[in-house]
Amino acid sequence: MRILQVSAEIFPLLKTGGLADIAGALPPALLAAGCDIRVLLPGFPAVMAGLKDPVRVGAFGTPWGDQVEVLFGALPAVSQGAHTVFAYVLSAPALYNRPGNPYEDAHKQAYADNHRRFAALGWAAAHLAHGLDRLWRAQLVHAHDWHAALAPACLAAWNDGRGARVPSVFTIHNLAYQGVFWPQNFPDLGLPGPMFSMHGLEYYGQISFMKAGLTYASHITTVSPTYAREIQTPEQGCGLDGLLRDRAGSLSGILNAVDDHVWNPAKDVHLKHHFDVRNMAGKALNKAALQTEMGLAVSADAPLFAVVSRLTEQKGLPLVLAGLDEIIGRGGQLLVLGNGDTALEQAFAHHARGNPAQIAFRTGYDESLAHRIFAGSDIIQVPSRFEPCGLTQMYGLKYGTLPLVRRVGGLADTVTDTDLETLDNQSATGIVFNEFTVEDYRHAVRRAFALYHRRSDWSHVRQTGMRIAFDWATAAQRYTTLYESLIQAP
Ligand code: ADP
Ligand code: GLC
Repeated sequence: MRILQVSAEIFPLLKTGGLADIAGALPPALLAAGCDIRVLLPGFPAVMAGLKDPVRVGAFGTPWGDQVEVLFGALPAVSQGAHTVFAYVLSAPALYNRPGNPYEDAHKQAYADNHRRFAALGWAAAHLAHGLDRLWRAQLVHAHDWHAALAPACLAAWNDGRGARVPSVFTIHNLAYQGVFWPQNFPDLGLPGPMFSMHGLEYYGQISFMKAGLTYASHITTVSPTYAREIQTPEQGCGLDGLLRDRAGSLSGILNAVDDHVWNPAKDVHLKHHFDVRNMAGKALNKAALQTEMGLAVSADAPLFAVVSRLTEQKGLPLVLAGLDEIIGRGGQLLVLGNGDTALEQAFAHHARGNPAQIAFRTGYDESLAHRIFAGSDIIQVPSRFEPCGLTQMYGLKYGTLPLVRRVGGLADTVTDTDLETLDNQSATGIVFNEFTVEDYRHAVRRAFALYHRRSDWSHVRQTGMRIAFDWATAAQRYTTLYESLIQAP
């Protein structure tokens, strides 16, 4: 099967969140599963720099009159062992040659021409499914998030409903980011006029890339089964729950996995002290090193609660701020690595200045520090309001760092709460709370302390979590089964 994966980010070349981790791990896993997968990416500087031996395979014109060149080459940084990942990259400096964040400028403002930047990506996918590269033609397009969501619409528009449509899968990593643009930009998309309607990509008078993906994809997936159900409700549907209920027959959840080449405490290149479930001595050494590095009091006994996160509304961090005394008053420590919302950054920085022995805050994006935090902490907190999947709780599980999470989305699918029954049947892996309230969060923190002080139970729960595979082979198998069924469908 010739599959074209389309995304805006790919680890390790360009990452703003979990999307990149998944976009970087899925292709090698699919190659290992026997799938002929290639990736399509915008030519952001970091992507261009990672493309080895590029050759030009062709070009196409944009609706606004520019030419976009399509390059082809290998991505050594994304490849694994014998599985070389090949990529098509859009060379269009006017659109993509901007440093830093792929979506916004240095003042955190979305670029005004984002509709053009990501419409070009959608059209490139359609061209690659219709022979732009004479040597390789995609049989199915797999688009990720709103940035790639125009691809299914472009495929639908290609022969205007005449002839067989190349099938597509659209994966929602986050329904909250929709790619909504003013209607006067519609001509720039190059789509037929009737598509700008309630049954197309029109959304309350505006253009919605997300809605284009949801409407025109052959099949929609989410990154966890629970999120696939939640987004069909008004509470979590971000205004698109009606459409999602209409498409329920073509909507399913495939749980994300963890890339063992990147996230494995026995081999992690970012760690001084390696460990695994049978030999945990290295974990204590990582904790002491982390406390030292962060200026926290070096104490083996103080439970170290961590957060590694984008600082946004989604992630529920006001709960952590409101319940801070619950951790600090009991002699625990809090370490936060996060960037985003300025008010949240200031609040965490303020608390850290007031009590540096117990609270540490680092802003900015630091991949290596993130690894050291998962390895050296005791508890990773993900108290999200909503969470399509969430990766940090899975990284925590792999690194023997118990997740404290809210029962929502992928968090509900990946963490089993600790109670007498789950301790007894050895399924407990963390602490899960239900309501998005400070009371429930505080109660969860108190339960984490209680478990921490029961050393034998703590270590059993930790071992159960560390033994969960979250392997990509299983997830890749689910995607290939889906691709097969869509390619074979009449
Ligand atoms: P989301 O995609 O919503 O941000 P995920 O939990 O799926 O949430 O993925 C977040 C990814 O980004 C993880 O790989 C996490 O380690 C990483 N991450 C988040 N914030 C930072 C940061 N400030 N520095 C380094 N890595 C971060
Ligand atoms: C999104 C979601 C997150 C998910 C990630 C990767 O950014 O917010 O929950 O884990 O995508 O699928």
